[in-house]
Amino acid sequence: MTTTPAAPPSRLEPEPVSRRDLLGWSALGTAIVALVLAVFGAARLPRAAVVRAPSRKFKVSLPEALLPGEAYLPPGRSAALYRDAEGGVYAISRVCTHLGCLVNTEADGFHCPCHGSRFAPDGAVVKGPAPQGLPWFEVARVGPDTYLVDESKTVPAGTKAVA
Ligand code: FES
Repeated sequence: MTTTPAAPPSRLEPEPVSRRDLLGWSALGTAIVALVLAVFGAARLPRAAVVRAPSRKFKVSLPEALLPGEAYLPPGRSAALYRDAEGGVYAISRVCTHLGCLVNTEADGFHCPCHGSRFAPDGAVVKGPAPQGLPWFEVARVGPDTYLVDESKTVPAGTKAVA
């Protein structure tokens, strides 16, 4: 009995796909789909809800009638501004160093309404529980009777902008 040699495979017939190749292509397709979905999912993540904080620097014009030692409270700010007898201008924080309440300005200094701390006119602690005095802020003269107050920079007590 004679055997005829097998005919060579036709070039028109597709090559059979092995199981290994099929699993490899499936894994690659799954990885691509997962990557695309991950990119779309990351793009849809909620944006951080960042609220821009107002600048801690502000310009202020002092009223001409402001007497030496009299407090000027710029609206919306936590600093009290003063003019001394020589025309020097300075700013003292009104945030109590105990727990952060806003202190009231009085003729004899500052009084905290929350727990009763008292501060001298220069911000030094007179009566606790406040652990330290009220900080002074940097003040710079930027125009005729106009000053730039920077509530983010403290200066040693007694530092004044010269008019
Ligand atoms: S917050 Fe001012 S004394 Fe407590």
